[in-house]
Amino acid sequence: MSKPLLVTGAAGHLGRQVLELLLAANVGPVIATTRDPEKLRDFQARGVTVRAANFDAPESLPRAFAGAERMLLISTDDLTHPGRRLEQHRNAVAAAVTAGVKHVVYTSLTHPDASSPITFASDHRGTEEALANSPLGYSVLRNNLYADLLLYSLPRALASGQLVSAAGDGGVGFVTREDCARAAAAALTDGFEGRRVLDVTGPEVLTYPQVAHLASELLGRPLTAVSVPREALEAGLKQAGLAPTFAAALASIDAGIAQGKTALATDVVRQLTGQPAQDVRGFLTRHKAALLAGG
Ligand SMILES: NC(=O)c1ccc[n+]([C@@H]2O[C@H](COP(=O)([O-])OP(=O)(O)OC[C@H]3O[C@@H](n4cnc5c(N)ncnc54)[C@H](OP(=O)(O)O)[C@@H]3O)[C@@H](O)[C@H]2O)c1
Repeated sequence: MSKPLLVTGAAGHLGRQVLELLLAANVGPVIATTRDPEKLRDFQARGVTVRAANFDAPESLPRAFAGAERMLLISTDDLTHPGRRLEQHRNAVAAAVTAGVKHVVYTSLTHPDASSPITFASDHRGTEEALANSPLGYSVLRNNLYADLLLYSLPRALASGQLVSAAGDGGVGFVTREDCARAAAAALTDGFEGRRVLDVTGPEVLTYPQVAHLASELLGRPLTAVSVPREALEAGLKQAGLAPTFAAALASIDAGIAQGKTALATDVVRQLTGQPAQDVRGFLTRHKAALLAGG
């Protein structure tokens, strides 16, 4: 019998999609870890071993990861406490080593190098370094921005007729979360034992003016892209009630776009999964009703 595959943070959007893919592919034993096992009772009923694991409690992690051969380490979602996420990920990497895991698949970010203005790029850079300094094999999947983020920004933009960003003419190789899940599931199951760093992206790079044009055409509503300075965007987000560090993180994503940190389109989704990545046109078309209804 094959050794178990493990997915951390499995109750999140990406985690659940990966679990679905692993079950559909009948890959053998699957372990799912989460802070709240109650949220995964449905998967437990379908044969998944569900264990509690919180990266903030490092002493509990080796037991939670025990028995797994390959592990998908899903990056956590705390953008409001700088440094905490890296600590969490370091705890998970150390525990994977202690537990005898052989290969870790990690969800990183495109161009997480020191020149990135994205406030949380250092979390990903630090996690990649922790993996490189460990004895583990790894697949670093540098996911580009989710196309799914447009489901939040476009309805607001359609209401005002303006798609406001601080990204200027910077481009994004938007990738659907579904494709990120397919890529992660493939990297977890393909048996690769070495070390690889892959940029997981959609098939094309689009600027916000191009997204606005496309959305306007598909949805039949007027929409213009408006670029504002990063500082103005950050101030507006704070004024709207976002925590200062979260507002800074969101505005920094646009600064990263403006500086070319997301302007890449690769064939990695096809290489890993055998199927091409979905494009933004197809994604928005599939979600047309929700977009027109206000998201
Ligand atoms: N590329 C992009 O555009 C983009 C966009 C959004 C997010 N992301 C990143 O990709 C990750 C997955 O995306 P998603 O859509 O699935 O996000 P999500 O639904 O918000 O999921 C967040 C995940 O973080 C896990 N988590 C949070 N705190 C944790 C802790 N202390 N210990 C262990 N796990 C913890 C959660 O696991 P449990 O609830 O199961 O404990 C959950 O699965 C995000 O967490 C974020 O790092 C990327």
